[in-house]
Formats: sequence, structure tokens, C-alpha cells
Amino acid sequence: MTTNSLIDQAISVLRLNDTGVFTKPGPHQYPHQWNWDSALIALGLSHFDLPRAQAEIRSLLSGQWQDGMLPSVVYHAAPSDYFPNPQFWQIENSASAPRVPTTGITQPPLLATIVRLMHDRQPMPEFLREVYPALLHWHRWLHTARDADGTGLACIIHPWESGTDDSPRWLHLFEAIHPEALPEFQRGDTRYVAATERPNRTEYERFIYLIDVFRKRNYAPAELLQHSPFLAQDVLFNAILFRADEDLRALAVSLQEPAEEIDGWLQTVRSHFDARFWDADAALYYDYDVRAGKRIPVNTASTFLPLFAGLPSEEQARQLVEQHLLNPMEYGRDEDVRHWVTTTAKNEPTWEARRYWRGPVWVIMNWLIFEGLRRYRYDDLAQALRRDTVGLIEGAGFREYYDARDGSGCGSTDFSWSAALLIELTKDR
Ligand code: GLC
Repeated sequence: MTTNSLIDQAISVLRLNDTGVFTKPGPHQYPHQWNWDSALIALGLSHFDLPRAQAEIRSLLSGQWQDGMLPSVVYHAAPSDYFPNPQFWQIENSASAPRVPTTGITQPPLLATIVRLMHDRQPMPEFLREVYPALLHWHRWLHTARDADGTGLACIIHPWESGTDDSPRWLHLFEAIHPEALPEFQRGDTRYVAATERPNRTEYERFIYLIDVFRKRNYAPAELLQHSPFLAQDVLFNAILFRADEDLRALAVSLQEPAEEIDGWLQTVRSHFDARFWDADAALYYDYDVRAGKRIPVNTASTFLPLFAGLPSEEQARQLVEQHLLNPMEYGRDEDVRHWVTTTAKNEPTWEARRYWRGPVWVIMNWLIFEGLRRYRYDDLAQALRRDTVGLIEGAGFREYYDARDGSGCGSTDFSWSAALLIELTKDR
């Protein structure tokens, strides 16, 4: 297939999922607006329809809470059979909920990075001036309302905030969570996708239990920080936030806005990042369980995300690449597992080839790692990863994730960010 016809197909997927107000991540499985999905969708759209890309970001920001939180999902006025629905979240009891129905939790803060990428390619000073205050407000909220210990690192209170919902690194925290009583609910996520490709029941019950804890406390940030049974500092989330702070700083400079506050965040986080996350013996970044006060020793692909943020030293980067990314026991390709980067290392006991964030390859992770490799000048490796990712899409279509053994597709079909990133990965390269 020629690159141009692949790009045409990608554009058709984005058009298919476009409701006119926002773009759905997938046509059936995800009928509302998701936070980091929309950021990537805007990046894809910006290559061929900048006004529509800007509209995507505006509609996401319309869901911002008064305290600055940018929620994981904005429901808009789109009725659907999706669960959990706005009736379940009950955000109207919170003091700072917006007018639009949303969830009461956030997602990885990719947006400032995406806005900067767009602006660097096609300067859009007016749009920048319009959205900058909202971005700053969100980042300030992350560094204050979610800072549990003065490290500037943002805590997540729900696995969904990590964007990698059933990643095995959360199982350690779940072992300590015993839902006393569960509210009544019916899962909707296994309606369109095979249950074997979705989270297990025990994890799903804990997802729901946590929401019940939050809504009973009316989403008051200080209370959630104090009482959420799940409290973690996530490598992926904080690496993305650090990179996004750098990008926000660049936007501030181009708008001639003060940057001292952002500099402060960058400095504090840089000074705590390694002490908190880097395990020198394993040469891996591990997430941190704040309640238990210890690292979570599970090897997942989020260990490569600090490369995207420029945080590792050259030596740490070399260790990540040589000991892990290229190691056939972990992430490197071999005869049985022909594609990379699996979301969990293959030698983790919890690895599963087709289940959601337990093992399959996700285009978003590959893009973030691709950018990280380029930042550290592993150009050949970055290009090899780019080719493998494009090949997966060419072979199995714009799927949500892929079985790394044979490249077959899993989860939602016509998946928006796979389409958006295909455009990003192939345009002018
Ligand atoms: C799933 C993913 C999350 C994504 C959402 C919509 O919940 O885990 O990262 O944003 O689907 O695509």
C-alpha cells in the first residue's frame, strides 16, 4: 500500500469518528471525548485541517473544572450506552465541576506538548493566547492538588488516570484494596470487544469501587489525596508532565508570559525524579506506591517514557535501550514475538499477549518511545520502530492495540489515535 493511500484511510477514520463537536476515540467502544486521545487526534488533524484541530482542543477544554483539572472524559450532550456514564460519576456534588458532564478524574497531560508541536510547525499566536491560561491552570493543579509530599511529582488516584488502565503495575496496589460494598453496575466495555481482550473482573470491580469512594467525598481534591485507597506516582504520567512543563515553558516564552513558576516545577521534579523512580540495580524506572511507601517492581514499557522527557543521562538511556528495549527476553523481537514494543516485558509473569495493557503493542506507546529514541539520537532504532508500527497498521488496520506475536489487531476498530499517529509518523518523513 502506498503511504498516501494509508494516510487517506487514516483521514477517513478521523472523519468517521468526528461528531462535529469532538472526535470519538473509537466508533462504538468509546463514544465520548477522551483527554489524551483528543490531544493526539488534534495533532493528526493539524496536518490537514488546522481549524478542526483547534476546535478539538477547544471542546476538550470546555470540560475543564474550575480548580483547573482537565477530566479524562468529557461527555458533551452525546447520549450513549457507555459505562460509567455521567449519572454514575455524580460530579454535580463537587464544588468545582463544570457545566458539561465529565468524569471526576484526569489523564496524562499530553496537551501542552501537542499544542507546542502544532505551534512550532504552523505558528498560531492567537490560538496560543486563547488556550495558554487553561493549560497553565491544569499544570498548576497537577503540581499542587496532586502533590502529596512536596516532590512536585503528581499522584494518580485511579489506574484510569495513568491511561494504561489494567497495567500489571497496579496489581500490587490492588492487593491492598478490598471493596467493602460495591455499587450496582453493569459493564459496557465487553459489549463490542471480547472479554479476553479487556480487564479482568477483579480489577474492574476495584476501578468502580474507587469511583464510589471519590463521589462519596464529592471529589474534594485534598480529601482524595488523603483518603484514596489508590495513590501512586506513575513514571509515565510524570515523564509526560515534565515534558509538557518544558513545552508549556516554551509557549510562555513565546507569549512573553512569566515562566518562573514553571521553572520551579521543572527544577523540583528533576531533583526528585531519579531518587523516586530509578532502580539502579535493575536499570529500570519503577512506579511508586505512595501508601505503601515503596517502588512497584514491575517491568512495563512506561520505563522508556523518561526518554521522551529528556530525563535520563546518556548512560541511563544506553542501559534502557541495550539491557531492556533490545533484550529478546523483555522487549526485543524474537521468532515468537515479532513486533515491539510490548506494553509489559515478555518475561513478567502477568504478561498476556492480547489483554489490553498487559502485553499488546499500542501505537501511542510506540510514538512516545520513538520520540524518546530520537531525542537521544538513536535514529536507526527510532526508524526501525516507526517502520514496525506503520507495518502493524498496514497489516491489521487502525486497531486499538496489536498482538505482538503475529501483528493481529485487538480491541476497538477504526481507532482514532492510531489513525492520527499514522499521519504524524508518515507525513514528510
Ligand atoms: C482506554 C485507555 C485510555 C484511553 C481510552 C480511550 O481507557 O486505557 O488510555 O484514553 O481507552 O481511548
